[in-house]
Amino acid sequence: MTILGIETSCDETAAGILDLEGNILSNVVASQIETHAPYGGIIPELASRAHIVNIHKVINEALKIAKISVNELSAIAVTNGPGLAGSLLVGLNFAKGLSASLEVPLIGVNHLEGHISACFIEENKFNYSLNDIFPCIALLISGGHTELILMNDYDSYKLLGQTRDDAVGEAFDKVSRILGLGYPGGPVIEKWAKLANKQNYVLPRAWLKKDEEFSFSGLKTASKNLAFEKIYSNNKLSNDDIKNEISEVAYAFQISVSDVLINKSIRIAEKYNCKNILVSGGVAANGFIRENFKNTKINSIFPERKHCTDNGLMIACRGLIDYKKNKFINPQDINVAPQLNVT
Ligand code: KG4
Ligand code: ZN
Repeated sequence: MTILGIETSCDETAAGILDLEGNILSNVVASQIETHAPYGGIIPELASRAHIVNIHKVINEALKIAKISVNELSAIAVTNGPGLAGSLLVGLNFAKGLSASLEVPLIGVNHLEGHISACFIEENKFNYSLNDIFPCIALLISGGHTELILMNDYDSYKLLGQTRDDAVGEAFDKVSRILGLGYPGGPVIEKWAKLANKQNYVLPRAWLKKDEEFSFSGLKTASKNLAFEKIYSNNKLSNDDIKNEISEVAYAFQISVSDVLINKSIRIAEKYNCKNILVSGGVAANGFIRENFKNTKINSIFPERKHCTDNGLMIACRGLIDYKKNKFINPQDINVAPQLNVT
């Protein structure tokens, strides 16, 4: 009795398998970084094509690691949005076909709910019986989203605010491109920021009047201006000087992001009397942000770093919650659904 989770919303083809007690049996991710890196960002057409090539292999590998046959699957959970339509369709159609041929239920999972569910993975088990954490604030920080959500239970989401412009992961990726560091930007900015010695450049923080909202496009422009002033318009720098300046700009950018995310989340958690903040999405893998969250007065819950970026396990986890509630979708009705079902 197991659930397969399939994720193809962006640039990872991924599958994860759980048993019905929540024990993790496998988690396989085929990254497309090499495909997109030469372009400095994701090319949707190439992403869909890579999913088509990878999906069989990834699911077979997940079954092999879980040591089960395809006939032992009790349900198929699949991301049905938000994401790149062409990418979503590959996973969705594969899941539809598989559920029809095995005659097992199909569960449509919202990608953002999947990310949040990863906060409840403990060691090798998905433990979603932690009802004492609600109400809580979920801070969702990924390549496409930056949202503050009030959760009263696993199915109640109130969107308090989101970014007005760039998502925070998108800002990491763009600043990385400005600094010539490559794609994806998050891990590489984090690495370079660790090398900063002086740490004396200060970039702006967009606090905004509406506390629950974010904006990162001004920070991106300010980072670009700083890079031009300190690096690109100075032809007297040695290679070592250039490296030092890159790390200083990366640090100034990262600490600005971290300050804004932490300050706002804490204030909002206090405003809504929440004792816990769930932090999820690819940017939650950032060690600097994780460390700074630890030193605040509110308890923060992060998935393990490896479960922060897109994966199929988080989709299987959310699928398990729906499976227990018999929340299935008729394969004829499932479609690409763009948003989290928020109130
Ligand atoms: O959740 P995710 O894998 O995909 C989306 O749903 O968007 O997030 C990808 C984003 C990318 O923008 C990537 O640069 C960022 O997460 N990211 C990081 C780190 N690892 C991935 N950002 C900051 N620090 C990291 N260590
Ligand atoms: Zn994601």
